[in-house]
Amino acid sequence: MTDGKRAQVTAIYPGTFDPITNGHLDIIARGVRLFDRIIVALLSNADKEPLFPLEDRMEIVRSVVARLPNVQVESFDGLLVNYARSRSASVIVRGLRALSDFEYEFQMALMNRRLEPGVETVFMMPSEAYSYVSSRLVKEVFRLGGDATGLVPQEVVTRLKARYASPGRR
Ligand code: PNS
Repeated sequence: MTDGKRAQVTAIYPGTFDPITNGHLDIIARGVRLFDRIIVALLSNADKEPLFPLEDRMEIVRSVVARLPNVQVESFDGLLVNYARSRSASVIVRGLRALSDFEYEFQMALMNRRLEPGVETVFMMPSEAYSYVSSRLVKEVFRLGGDATGLVPQEVVTRLKARYASPGRR
């Protein structure tokens, strides 16, 4: 910048967040220290048949990031880079837990770079306490009667209980 002012950096933290875990939250908390604004962006047309409908996932994320400054929660459809551009974001944040995440993340990052060279993917590592935590495993543990306390926000525990209490639930 020639006028001495630093450009404001908006980062998008995209995902399905079905549901958000303490690992995701850890990444967001680290991200707010690096970026001026973080938009947690929930994919609305997930092929994955999420357990929680988009509105519920958004509500949960909103409630658990409410105390964090400069964090917004939105949904998006279509290409992530188009959405990032529409929000003037220059960064996509993704969490990397283990080597097993790497191949998928590497492919996505390079594809996104090809589609939009102006957006950089930044990988962040959550605390090692959450390196094995995933939304998929949390749902499985919960469904089979295990205890997910401490792995997800209390709000998620409450929602999971309600979800699995209704008959016919996966
Ligand atoms: O939490 P997830 O499910 O791993 O997040 C995946 C997500 C939402 C980041 C990814 O599926 C995505 O970006 N979808 C939007 C469609 C898109 O842009 N596809 C090309 C990316 S290489």
